[in-house]
Parts: sequence; structure tokens; C-alpha cells
Amino acid sequence: MDVDDIETIAVLGAGNMGHGIAEVAALAGFDVHLRDIKEEFVQKGYDQLEWSLNKLAEKEQIGEAEAEAALDRVTPIVDLEEAVEDADFVVEAVPEKMDIKKNVYRELEQHAPDEAVFATNTSSLSVTELSEVTDRPERFCGMHFFNPPVRMQLVEVISGAHTDPEVLDLTEDLAEAMGKTPVRVRKDSPGFIVNRVLVPLLNEAAWLVEDDVATIAEVDSTTKYDIGLPMGAFELADQVGVDVSYDVLDYMQGVLGDAYEPCPLLVEKVEAEKLGKKTGEGFYDYDDGGADVPT
Ligand code: 3HC
Repeated sequence: MDVDDIETIAVLGAGNMGHGIAEVAALAGFDVHLRDIKEEFVQKGYDQLEWSLNKLAEKEQIGEAEAEAALDRVTPIVDLEEAVEDADFVVEAVPEKMDIKKNVYRELEQHAPDEAVFATNTSSLSVTELSEVTDRPERFCGMHFFNPPVRMQLVEVISGAHTDPEVLDLTEDLAEAMGKTPVRVRKDSPGFIVNRVLVPLLNEAAWLVEDDVATIAEVDSTTKYDIGLPMGAFELADQVGVDVSYDVLDYMQGVLGDAYEPCPLLVEKVEAEKLGKKTGEGFYDYDDGGADVPT
């Protein structure tokens, strides 16, 4: 299969990442089926996608006609079979739990065309392990976007142990067709490249506050103005979702050892469901005009 053969992309999961990936695909001219398990979830993702397109048009980063055309290419769907039966490429962005993802792949395998490629947007989980619950581990890879997908240039394309190199080439071509810059991750390893580097940084920032070495504001001004990240460490944790950072660390701890133990400060936020922008509060409060992204 060539990238020109890809017409319809199914995006499974309409959350923070799923709706953003669907937006990127629609802007690139693909027909997109945005699927989630409940009407309210898929509608929320669709509304966020529409908000984002309008925001880009308002800022003249895209034209109004382009925004409208992209939105027209997106079909929100709840029924999995309907979402994937004519898909050429499936990007899965469901919650970062191995069991949930495996169940989705088992069901997906029953309905997707044999030639369709499955790509997981997992942040850290084993691509190989996920691929092995399907009948097409050679047509399975990681395609990891960054938050927010419409603004972030990089896409990690991850090889599982069974991935056909042609599928990696195709996925990189697709990322380029979406206007992104793919980087190949040659070996399936927890956190891949970016999260292996970034998430321990977010964890260390949390330990500094936990140990009373510095306040959140002090850490963030340091990471932003001295280290040169586009956001402070805690702003970034709120951007990606504190639960996502926690899940990545938890998985890395299990595979790589206790150096990756999540800081209690992250655990507390997850338990309190203060997950960042998406819940209106994380390390910062967004209900007070801090974030205008709808939650
Ligand atoms: N769509 C459209 N507009 C959006 C948006 C979206 N999805 N999200 C935010 N915006 C808007 C904001 O509402 C704001 O609008 P306003 O000016 O009207 O208030 C505007 O974008 C801010 O954009 P600016 O260009 O003015 O601001 P920045 O220069 O700060 O850029 C940013 C914003 C691109 C998000 C930048 O801060 C950035 O790069 N942050 C780091 C993000 C990052 O590192 N992400 C990767 C994290 S790791 C990850 O995702 C992996 C995962 O597996 C954990």
C-alpha cells in the first residue's frame, strides 16, 4: 500500500489526543472517522476539534474555508464496525491502559479490512505486546503524536518486533502527508524517545516540590526561562494530562525499575482527578480564564 492509497483514516478515541489527530488528518485532506464508545465522548471530541479549527482560522493560521472543509471530512461515530469497515489506516488513541487497548484491538481485528494498518498512539506501552493480540502484527506499528497534535511537529513512528519495514515507511509517509516530521524509533522500548527523556523530567520537577526545595512557580520559571522548554514542567504536565505522565512512569517503573517511581505529588493529583487542562485543574487552575481550551 502507498500513502496515495489511503483515503479513510479511523481514529479510535476522541479524547485529548484522538480529536487532535483526527483534526490533523482532516486538515491533510483525509476522510476521518472519529470514534468513541459513547455519544457524549465522541461529541465532546468533535466539539473540541471544531473549536480548534475555529481558533486556527481566527488566528489566520488556516483559512475559514479550509477549516470548514476539514470539519466536513470528519464523521463522528460510536459503532466500531461502521467506523473501521472501510478504513485504510487506523490510529488508536484510547486510554493508556494495556487491557483497554488490547480489548479494542481484539474487536477491531474482527471489523477492519485485512489490508488496513493499525497504528497505536500509545505514549509508552509495548507496541509488540499490543500487536500480538491481532492477526496482523506485521501491519502494526506505533504512531505517537504530541499534545496538542495540531501544533506539535514531531511524530514518533515505532517499530514493534514484528512490524514490516514497509509499514514503517508508509506510516512515515503518512506523517509527512499530514505535514509532520516523523522520527523512527527502531526498538520498542518503554516511553520510546521523547517520553523516556521528558516524563522523568516532569517527575523530578514534582520531587523538587515534594521535597520543599522549590515551589511550582519557581520550578516552572527555571524550566521555561533557563532550560528553555516552551512551557514550565508543571504547565506541561497539565498540558499532557497528569494521569498520562503518571501512567507512563508507572509502566516505566514496572519495566525499567524504581528510578521511574511516580512522585507522590503526581499520585495525589491523579487520585483527586486534578488532571490538568482537560479537567479544569491540575497544578494550575484553568477555570479562572487560565485555559480557553474547552474541557
Ligand atoms: N488548537 C488550536 N489552538 C490552540 C490549541 C489547539 N489544540 N491549544 C492551544 N491553542 C491556542 C491557545 O488557546 C492560545 O490561544 P490565545 O492566544 O487566543 O489565548 C494559543 O494557542 C497559544 O498559542 P501561542 O502560539 O500563542 O502560544 P505558544 O507559543 O505558547 O504555543 C504551544 C503553544 C504550541 C502549546 C507551546 O506552548 C508548546 O509547544 N508547548 C509544549 C507542548 C509540548 O511539549 N507537547 C508535547 C508534550 S509530550 C506529549 O504530548 C507526549 C505524550 O505521550 C505524554
